[in-house]
Amino acid sequence: MKILLTEQQIRNRVFELTERIAKDNTSGQLHVLFVLKGAFIFCADLVRCLSNYNIDITLDHVLAKSYDGKESTGEVKLSADVDIKGKEVLLVEGIIDTGKTIKSLKKDLMKKLPTRIKTVCLLDKPERREVDINADYVGFEIDNKFVVGYGLDYNEKYRYLPFIAKIE
Ligand code: IMP
Ligand code: MG
Repeated sequence: MKILLTEQQIRNRVFELTERIAKDNTSGQLHVLFVLKGAFIFCADLVRCLSNYNIDITLDHVLAKSYDGKESTGEVKLSADVDIKGKEVLLVEGIIDTGKTIKSLKKDLMKKLPTRIKTVCLLDKPERREVDINADYVGFEIDNKFVVGYGLDYNEKYRYLPFIAKIE
């Protein structure tokens, strides 16, 4: 395992992302939807950083399980009780790879009539994209390597690591 992004690098970038997210916010309100499980640590840091701005934040989660080991299964589940009608939504994802998860989630969420949905991901692997989608805010573009830590797993392991590392 080799460290790709340190705690400090992540912290600095999270701060920069929240500045932009806060600046773009139009309603003074933000409904933050984080994608489980991978985005839980990123989102926890992001919302605490967003607390420095004058925005009313509410939080909910959506479930996506698209990976089995290192292979995408493309499976996305949206629970029926996600209520975002008339809300300004920030969808928080840990990593965008093929793009299938975020694209499918966004499509399903749009049907629930939010005023708008912005997406933020900590990591992006643009080389791996299979569908046409990009996040509005991207923490770091990385090359085509499987990474773990800061919420991301390999078969449920390593999520707790405070940094991002490459699996050799
Ligand atoms: P996509 O649908 O192919 O864009 O995959 C996105 C999802 O795959 C993320 O929410 C992660 O759960 C998982 N994923 C993709 N790449 C990695 C990785 O390098 N490490 C850990 N999980 C990954
Ligand atoms: Mg996973």
